[in-house]
Amino acid sequence: MPVYDPPHFRSQRGWLNDPNGLVYVDGVYHLFFQHNPGGNTWGPMNWGHATSRDLLSWTEHGVALEPDDLGWIFSGSVVVDHENRLNVQDSAQKTLVAFFTHHDAEAAKRNAEGGFQHQSMAYSLDGGEHWIKHSANPILPNPGGVQDFRDPYVLWHPGSSAWIMLVSAGVCVEFYRSTDLLNWAKCSTFDAGEGADAGVWECPVLCTVPVEEVNETRWVLIQSFMPGGRLGGSGTRYFIGCFDGYVFEVERARLGGSRETPDNWYDWGPDNYAANIWANLPPHMPGPVSIGWMNNWVYANTTKETPFRGQMTLPRSHSIRLIDDKPYLVSEVAFDGVAETIQEAGLVEERIRFDASKSCVIDILCDGEIAVRVAFDAASSNFRFDRKSSHPTGDGEGFAGQFDVPRISSADHVELSIWLGAYCIEAFIDDGLQSVSVLLASAVTAVKLTH
Ligand code: FRU
Repeated sequence: MPVYDPPHFRSQRGWLNDPNGLVYVDGVYHLFFQHNPGGNTWGPMNWGHATSRDLLSWTEHGVALEPDDLGWIFSGSVVVDHENRLNVQDSAQKTLVAFFTHHDAEAAKRNAEGGFQHQSMAYSLDGGEHWIKHSANPILPNPGGVQDFRDPYVLWHPGSSAWIMLVSAGVCVEFYRSTDLLNWAKCSTFDAGEGADAGVWECPVLCTVPVEEVNETRWVLIQSFMPGGRLGGSGTRYFIGCFDGYVFEVERARLGGSRETPDNWYDWGPDNYAANIWANLPPHMPGPVSIGWMNNWVYANTTKETPFRGQMTLPRSHSIRLIDDKPYLVSEVAFDGVAETIQEAGLVEERIRFDASKSCVIDILCDGEIAVRVAFDAASSNFRFDRKSSHPTGDGEGFAGQFDVPRISSADHVELSIWLGAYCIEAFIDDGLQSVSVLLASAVTAVKLTH
């Protein structure tokens, strides 16, 4: 099989991390991303830019936002200003408004007392090609001395008729409101109680998600933590709850003895971070649709060098499934296209169904050699992933060479779907109840099941 894998977006050159500013406009999915075009390691951050019509094949464009006097351009989001609230629209084309963090790298080096991360804004009058930074930047300055104050995520809240901004602030996320996209007033703070000691909070996302089989939605906060991943390093959790436009509260049914039970992982593997979702999706796409950075901060700068460094996961759509009345976020791969196109793109999905009362081994092969072994142990209902022979750093003993994923479902049969990519697999257990993203050093080509 040819190593042809465009669906896992990567930039043509340089370094890539978080997806930023995901927005759908006029038939086009925009994907902006944290990008160092000048080097293969993390460095001065820009927003790179790519577009797709089907979420399968991507075209990369020039850099959309580059560093300036206020600093590097960290993560953020884009919204469509349908009602011209910002009041800059100059044609029939709706204004796109980007929110991002200005990171003052010099001030960061001195650990400047007043903080060095501020929220800023830029807008585009031509559907995302050119961006104008707002003259009032930073539009939401650091309140003073908050070391980690970043990654603004903006959405419209219909119930209270306001724009909402979420900003990660150390070990919590802050909520702000605005009616003109320019002036923001703080309305609440969310932390997860016991979960709050899990490293720095980064890249919050808030969205509504449909509940399977009933005509209901829930609010979901997707929150990344570094460190604080389930295997160490970086990782992303979700919180299901209620949001009234001011305050986010976790739903009672998800709570065990502590404020948050430990099984709320957006992804159970080592390599899915800073997931974000597309704004303004078309009615024919069941929302929300997310994409994550397929990497881990533990080794992102030291993975084996290819012409690029860093890639995204496949896009995923989400629903909520109730299991014994407890809600879980479910993920499945999502494209805006037909099956033949998926095959043409060289993407392979292997579906495996097996009896959960019997142990089995699934080998994922690269040229006949085992790249990843997934061993299911029926007695403990546990999956053990072993990627030591294809570790992304080339080091067999490296981070998460072997890791366990305890199965949540107790259904009689396991439904497993494994998407093979160049340099990765993405496994979905029990129809997407748990997803496992695993970065590799080799291109995988086949799957073999043995009992
Ligand atoms: C998350 C993150 C963000 C920050 C960006 C910098 O991976 O650390 O919090 O905005 O990356 O590149």
